[in-house]
Order: sequence, then C-alpha cells, then structure tokens
Amino acid sequence: MNNPDKKICPSILSADFAILKEEILDVEKSGADIIHCDIMDGSFVPNISFGAKIVSDVNKITDLPLDVHLMINNPENYIEDFFKSGADFISVHYENNFHLNRVINLIKSLGIKSGVVLNPSTSVTVLDYIIEYVDFVLLMSVNPGFGGQKFIPNTLEKISELKEIIDRKNLKCRIEVDGGVGPENIKLLSDAGADMFVCGSSVFGSENRSEVIRLMKESIS
Ligand code: DX5
Ligand code: ZN
Repeated sequence: MNNPDKKICPSILSADFAILKEEILDVEKSGADIIHCDIMDGSFVPNISFGAKIVSDVNKITDLPLDVHLMINNPENYIEDFFKSGADFISVHYENNFHLNRVINLIKSLGIKSGVVLNPSTSVTVLDYIIEYVDFVLLMSVNPGFGGQKFIPNTLEKISELKEIIDRKNLKCRIEVDGGVGPENIKLLSDAGADMFVCGSSVFGSENRSEVIRLMKESIS
C-alpha cells in the first residue's frame, strides 16, 4: 500500500522536449503524483530552461498538479503568469529575495501552495520568521541549475533539522527535496522527514519509468 502523503514529482527538465507530451503522459501513467517544472533564467542560475507558455501547455495535457520551482531573479514579476498557466505549487528561493514575506503572501493570495527554497549551503535557521507562512520548504540537494548532479549528503541532516523545527512549532509545512534523488537514497530522505521527492534523471533517464517509480514508492510506503 502506497503512502498517500509521500509524493513523487518527476522534473520535466530531464524529459525529451521534442516529445514532451509523450514524456509527461508516460510518467503520469507510470505513477507520478506531481509534475515538477524548473524555471531558470540564466541569471540567478547559470542555465535557461522554459517559461510560463510551456507550463500552460503542460497543464492542458495532464491532470496532475504542477509544481513550479522558480530559479529566477525578480520572481514577484512572474507569479501571476505562472498562476494563470496552471501552477498548483509555486516556490521561490530565499537567496535572491529581499521581500520574501511579500512574495509568499502574493502566492498565497492566489489560493495555491507557496514554498520557499533553500540552496545547499543556506541554513534552515533563515526560515525562523517565514516558515509559519509557507505550505512547504524545498531543500536543494544539488546546486540549482542542472539536472543529473550528485546528491549532496549533508542534506539528510538538514531535512532532520527542518523536520524538528516543523514538529516543535506544530506546523503543517511539508518538506520537498530536489536534486540527485532516486531509488538508492529515497528511503533515507523519507525517514529523515521529506514528503515530496523531485526526481529528474532517475525517472526520465530510465528505460522503465514505472518500475523506478514503483520501486521508490515501495521504499517510502
Ligand atoms: C536543479 C533542479 C532539479 C533537477 C533535478 O536545479 O531544480 O529539479 O532538475 O534533476 P535530478 O533529479 O536529475 O537531479
Ligand atoms: Zn527543481
């Protein structure tokens, strides 16, 4: 029996964009819970991916919720565009936000889930005065910008630390982990307290996506 509170979120950054529709329908059929969309601007991170038009087109072909991870400067200028494109979750980074509380409130005012993202070297202590306002915290387990990187091991400790804060404050905030996640480490991440697992290359890079997703779901159930 799968644990309904734990979500597998394939990142389409690792999909073949020439056949994006087939790729998404394939992971949907294979048991994905949420589609993760990585938005990169070539400024906050050293890579460019795609924008709201693609998210809107993806929304037309799948019933799965869309999780939009903004790795862009001035995210406040684009929140409404991504909301209109069908985002169900929008997360923004702590590191490039002077007015984090304002951006989080803007996302919440649209009636969708708001999240804050921390880079690997950013401490969870920076969340002290924002955590009560967010629906989820996304912990990066690689440096943002590219799929297919190696998992940074001290993220495990960070998940436990964050879980402790959430429990101590009696919050409903969920923990998402992103980067280098696959069947070999997902159980450890889940046991430490993570609820949402972003998987790019481990899912899209596999010949048998349903088997990889089944394996991961089995080890976190
Ligand atoms: C990295 C992105 C991730 C990435 C995950 O900046 O935020 O979502 O696509 O890819 P894998 O699972 O291959 O590390
Ligand atoms: Zn991401």
